[in-house]
Amino acid sequence: MREFKGRDFLTLMDYTKEEILRIIDLADELKEKLAKGEPHTYLTGKTVAMIFEKHSTRTRLSFQAGAAHLGMQAFYMDPSTMQISRGESLADTAKTIDRYADALVIRTFEQEIVEDFAKNMERPVINALTNETHPCQLLADIQHVRERKGRLDDLKIGYVGDVWNMAHSWGIVSSLFGWDMKYALPKGYDYWPRAREFIDKTNKESGGSFEMTQDLKEAMTDADVVVGITFVSMTRGATEEDMKKKLKDFLPYQINSKAMSWAKDDAIYMHCLPAHRGEEVTSEVIDGPQSFVFDQAENRMHTEKALMALLLGGVK
Ligand code: CP
Ligand code: NVA
Repeated sequence: MREFKGRDFLTLMDYTKEEILRIIDLADELKEKLAKGEPHTYLTGKTVAMIFEKHSTRTRLSFQAGAAHLGMQAFYMDPSTMQISRGESLADTAKTIDRYADALVIRTFEQEIVEDFAKNMERPVINALTNETHPCQLLADIQHVRERKGRLDDLKIGYVGDVWNMAHSWGIVSSLFGWDMKYALPKGYDYWPRAREFIDKTNKESGGSFEMTQDLKEAMTDADVVVGITFVSMTRGATEEDMKKKLKDFLPYQINSKAMSWAKDDAIYMHCLPAHRGEEVTSEVIDGPQSFVFDQAENRMHTEKALMALLLGGVK
């Protein structure tokens, strides 16, 4: 296993299954320590800068709370008040942050932006969501699946949602873990080619499979894990009309009680939140007995703590 210290966390395509499991195992340990009130200040005196170009509740709060538990300080930077909004270049901004902070957490638009920050910084850059990927969410989701299903092998994933960060990230993780993922979506929406190429190659080695279908029932049938994510994601440049059309196209793929009935009896429902009740999911499902979305959300903090502890060298 490669050393974690000093590495970026830009996409799970850069991490092996074993490395991901190391993060999740440490997250389990940290979760237990927190519950027992045992201190775990592995990063005392360190700092993490956080830039959010899009809205966030869970990611921002989980990183800030997690940083405090680890004995470090997290600085939230509003891009609209930074010089970057007045024309300072990305490279100069990145090089400056590198001199003050031990890591950068960044939520932004195109994947290339986090990659450009990483190229211009020595210190770790952590992707807190781009249009294409949301790797921090997937760490929490893997921990949650293991807690609820008791295993991380032999899983069928029934997926619904926008062709966006979560769909790509679930595809990537499913291929690394050898899961069978069926993704139901309307015609005319394209998957990120870079993820698709990775997924097809990785599935050949892991024994997993990835299929896209227009048939919701086909995707849900016998699923162990049903994932139902937002139909209209955070973006820029989309018109009101584009968003209305997308919602209309995706609405037939709503996860309601009927859709859940096609999955296995002990299937769990997952959503990264924020949820749009009445769109991608009904209240009956997301607030029902097969959904534990706030436990899932809590894991954001435990897994991000583990990630920072490893990337910043607080834990080997
Ligand atoms: N799941 C997630 O990333 O939530 P936020 O947008 O609230 O950070
Ligand atoms: N798909 C969503 C994830 C939000 C956490 C978005 O990017 O809008």
